[in-house]
Amino acid sequence: MSENQSPFTQVLSQALEASLTHLTTLATQPVGAQASVTELRAQLKKPLNDESLPAERVVSELVRDVEGGLHGTAGGRFFGWVIGGAVPAALAADWLTSAWDQNSGLYAVAPAAAVAEEVAGEWLKEIFALPQEVSFAFVTGCQMAHATCLNAARHAVYERVGWDVETLGLSGGPRVRIVANAHRHSSVDRAVRFLGMGTAQIEPVETDDFGRTKAEALRAALEVKRERPTIVCLQAGEINTGVSDDFAKLIPIAKEAGAWVHVDGAFGLWAAASEKLKYQVAGVELADSWATDGHKWLNVPYDSGFAFVRDRKAHRNAFAQHAAYLTHQQEVRDQMDWTPEFSRRARGFPTYAAIRQMGRAGIADLIERCCRYAHEITVGIGMLDGARMVCEPTLNQGLIQFLDRREGATEDDHSRRTDEVIALIAKSGEAFFTGSEWNGSRVMRVSVCSWQTTDEDVERVVRAVKKVLAEK
Ligand SMILES: Cc1ncc(COP(=O)(O)O)c(C=O)c1O
Repeated sequence: MSENQSPFTQVLSQALEASLTHLTTLATQPVGAQASVTELRAQLKKPLNDESLPAERVVSELVRDVEGGLHGTAGGRFFGWVIGGAVPAALAADWLTSAWDQNSGLYAVAPAAAVAEEVAGEWLKEIFALPQEVSFAFVTGCQMAHATCLNAARHAVYERVGWDVETLGLSGGPRVRIVANAHRHSSVDRAVRFLGMGTAQIEPVETDDFGRTKAEALRAALEVKRERPTIVCLQAGEINTGVSDDFAKLIPIAKEAGAWVHVDGAFGLWAAASEKLKYQVAGVELADSWATDGHKWLNVPYDSGFAFVRDRKAHRNAFAQHAAYLTHQQEVRDQMDWTPEFSRRARGFPTYAAIRQMGRAGIADLIERCCRYAHEITVGIGMLDGARMVCEPTLNQGLIQFLDRREGATEDDHSRRTDEVIALIAKSGEAFFTGSEWNGSRVMRVSVCSWQTTDEDVERVVRAVKKVLAEK
């Protein structure tokens, strides 16, 4: 069949054109989705078709029907949650990943995917300056990276007390203590739930005002119940303030108590990629496992998280699964031995491409640029009449509160005003931020993770917020 007759030619050309239209008009489109859920249902909800439809029609209608329902997360003025864009080589590699359609669970099923992942995993270890012996897994996101790391941790801490958790299960065995930063991300708790360890076993450790675990509180928590298997969960990058735990101080305390130390570094671990910022995560290499994301700060398309485990034997023993019909080979890396998945997307390709496109210096530059912009935006907005800076960024996260200017306004009034201004900014289409709570009050988070953000975007955003504050 000639290329012109391929059932893919036209539909993939349509997809390319629609993608380019989306990506090249981001600067002139509203940043936040403007359609309501009612509108989106009216556009997308159709009766289940009995007959097949031409692929070209399906795709052109899909492009038409999502109209108004896409956030401009791929652009430079989206500052909600912790959302990265996608660098061009990573996006292209992600398309190819779908076109190649490799099942990347085993080397035998997807040889090039296995090797690309093996190479990219080693590069990531170098970028984060993790110890040579560390094993890794490419998973769907940081949530599953926690599940992966904590499964390895569960294996190891049970093994230390002579309990084979994979065979015997949890019931009847000793309970694992999870001693964790009180300001941890909720995905840690969710991983503890999946793994059957029970969130009731999580013991929060007091933090300072920025969300950093207090060393004395950790020491006190670990002085008791020493006979119990223990996992300590620390954090690189608190979700609101971006600050990291003092690993150099905390990890030796945890190690002295015989605990496994896991680090949530969804975005904060990327500080290690910059010579200027790596002081913020000094000592992080002393941990036993690390979870981070590619789809946040590495600017790889979604479905990209990374788990790293120091004890590669524990990591492999927690996951390896062999079956006669599969083709397992020595000397190669079968990804399913390191992840919770069996069949899986060949998600190493986009990461491989992102790292190659940017190189070490480009990645460091991306991280540093985002931090600079987070600072400029937070300070710029914080100085506006009707706003105040609540947390000045040291990494890529800042906090702002908007003030109710009525006389006698209370903290609740400022909180209401903050949510109102966040909504007004989104409605303006000029930028998109999301809210959170800090010290009992509502705040707007400034979260910068995209390679697309420019100096011009920073000016445009501050101007747009100034206009919103002046108008209402
Ligand atoms: C600090 C932190 N940890 C974990 C996660 C979960 O990551 P993912 O959504 O990639 O699973 C996030 C997501 O925002 C996060 O910010």
